[in-house]
Amino acid sequence: MPIGAALEELELSSPQVRELAEFYAESFSLHRSFRGANALCTAPGRTLKLVPGDANRLVGAQFRFSSRPDFDAFTEHLSASGISVAEKTGGVSVTDPEGHILRFRYGTDQNPANGDARLQHFALRTPDPETLVAFYADKLGFIVSDFVRDEEGVLRAAFLRTDDEHHALAIFRSAEARFDHFSCEVESWTELRDWADRVCANGIPLAWGVGRHGPGNDTFFMVKDPDGNLAEISAELERCAPERATGLWPHRPETLNRWGVAIMRS
Ligand SMILES: [Fe+2]
Repeated sequence: MPIGAALEELELSSPQVRELAEFYAESFSLHRSFRGANALCTAPGRTLKLVPGDANRLVGAQFRFSSRPDFDAFTEHLSASGISVAEKTGGVSVTDPEGHILRFRYGTDQNPANGDARLQHFALRTPDPETLVAFYADKLGFIVSDFVRDEEGVLRAAFLRTDDEHHALAIFRSAEARFDHFSCEVESWTELRDWADRVCANGIPLAWGVGRHGPGNDTFFMVKDPDGNLAEISAELERCAPERATGLWPHRPETLNRWGVAIMRS
């Protein structure tokens, strides 16, 4: 069974916090507020924190449990995994092998999407996907929905879920360790169309898509922020039954975009 958590919030670092905040205000309709050098960008269902630092770096991610038994089972699993856990008010935090801080809390949704685009997953690039996948799957209990392997069997990508949605986290093999993208899920294909119209009306070109991913089967488009991070709007992501077997996809462009051109990370 999945752990039962959903992605709630991301924190990215940037050498140009204000430029990124302005970009996300225009592209993703996020309201930005500044506290010192930091920016809080938020709208119903999606929150992005921006702090000064290197470009293309995820500082941390926050997941929320809506079920107390699921949260208790998760923290018991963490104890059994033997990883270092920091107790925080209303939650726990752990650090993954590449230094990303992951916070898990139990509680009510204080920023519900109310039908608007909802922060749903994020993706990382790493030269060592095996280590990251092992941590998230074996230590944290994320479930691998799909692997992508090349003809030699080398792991090129993995998609892991925390609830019934196909992935809350994607991991891509790449020469460079960095943040890849985040995604906001909308209710339907027509809403995705409306988002594309709105983004482009604000003078922001689509960087990838509209397309359809193989793993997850969602339709999507992506834009690129001033730091080069990708930001995605996705629709109709696969819902997975608990007994769904882990899938295996070939490493080729058609896996990442069944409709054509793909961004290959390696
Ligand atoms: Fe995505």
